Amino acid sequence: MDGFLMIPTRFPLSLQQPENWDFREADTKEGTHVIHSYPAMMIPPVARGLIARLRKIKPEAQSLLDPFCGAGTVLVEGARQGLIAWGNDLNPLAVRIASARTTPIAEEVLSRELNRLDTQLTPCALSGWRGTIPEFAGRDFWFKPEVTHALAFIRAQIAAQLTNAHIRTLAEMAFSETVRLASNTRNGEFKLYRLPAAKLAAFHPDVLGLFRQTMRRYQEGLRTFNIDLQNAPALPRIVREDARSLTSIPDHFFDLMVSSPPYGDSRTTVAYGQFSRLSLEWLGFSPEQARTVDRQLLGGRPGSDPTLAIPSLAVQQGIHAIASHDPVRARQVYLFYHDLDQAIEAITRKLKPGALCAWVVANRTVKRIVLPTHAIIRELSLAHGYEWLEDLTRNIPNKRMPLSNSPTNVQGETGATMTQEHMVILRYRG
Ligand SMILES: C[S@@+](CC[C@H](N)C(=O)[O-])C[C@H]1O[C@@H](n2cnc3c(N)ncnc32)[C@H](O)[C@@H]1O
Repeated sequence: MDGFLMIPTRFPLSLQQPENWDFREADTKEGTHVIHSYPAMMIPPVARGLIARLRKIKPEAQSLLDPFCGAGTVLVEGARQGLIAWGNDLNPLAVRIASARTTPIAEEVLSRELNRLDTQLTPCALSGWRGTIPEFAGRDFWFKPEVTHALAFIRAQIAAQLTNAHIRTLAEMAFSETVRLASNTRNGEFKLYRLPAAKLAAFHPDVLGLFRQTMRRYQEGLRTFNIDLQNAPALPRIVREDARSLTSIPDHFFDLMVSSPPYGDSRTTVAYGQFSRLSLEWLGFSPEQARTVDRQLLGGRPGSDPTLAIPSLAVQQGIHAIASHDPVRARQVYLFYHDLDQAIEAITRKLKPGALCAWVVANRTVKRIVLPTHAIIRELSLAHGYEWLEDLTRNIPNKRMPLSNSPTNVQGETGATMTQEHMVILRYRG
């Protein structure tokens, strides 16, 4: 941290280095960051600060990759700083959110289309509507009949009224947030838990109102983003691939990589797939696509050969210690880091020699054993031809740490180590 205090302030505002990475009072929802919540998001000032820090070391940098882009925080900030940004995520909902957050839309066109949509979304039209109601397993468990009716109505109006594909994606994201808010789930949780009976009986969400309010917030957020992107060399590109392959992303292309990978498999850490499932069902994804996300993410599939060595002493020590309590758990942890190592290998192929990387991670605890993911990332990267430049640490402000916002939903897996985030900065030697 001391190094930050030494940085001269001769850079334009966007390139200044933060002196303190905690950002306790930061507005994390400004601009298009207001679009759709997502689990374990990086906060915008961290993305902004890291990109600026890497650019200070490498001022000629033009391209930026986030192979685990989630909702696209890094891509938004990279595009705002004039970089050619590419993102990737295997979760289809993440790809949609990131696209909506990184696509500027002319204000007049947006107003015109949304006004047209608005005139259709009246309580009177809703009560007389007799269109198709989508079917999917569990629908009536997660949604009350009147909520299902209203959601189906909004979905039909979005499809009928919005001709511009970008505006439709934006409206679908407002719809997806409405799905979550109007569902019988306990809001603020990433996993799907049903409201207790007493709360459910009193739960009568104003579905049209929720959608309209959300849409209005997005419209406002896009206004500032449009201005920021006026001089962008190109809009961010987002693909949906396994980070262990990345075949549709150009090789040896990127000067910078900034990313926050998952900290463990989705089942025991952050349930990205469960968080997305109801939205994906309502957005028309097949049951197979909507329900298998968590199994496809890092650490989600059995099958890696556990005899293959992972080039990290910290992983080996951690697995050894966990195995003495619970060998099955040790194997799951092993599989996750094995997948992470494969992802680092694939990501490395995308970088130019001399490229700079910043990984943002939090360390997790399994069976009371702390897994130092920041040290593990460093060790895995060294084995793939990187040199380590520095580690930075930030305290995750308390207000972001209640269970609802915690990076994990697993009891006993939060604790002291989750109150800090580590940022590991490396250079790829080539
Ligand atoms: C910590 S989140 C990234 C959050 C992001 N920085 C943001 O601000 O929204 C990690 C992401 O990795 C994705 N992911 C996990 N395994 C993956 C894989 N094998 N390939 C691609 N993406 C994966 C998850 O879907 C999740 O969106």
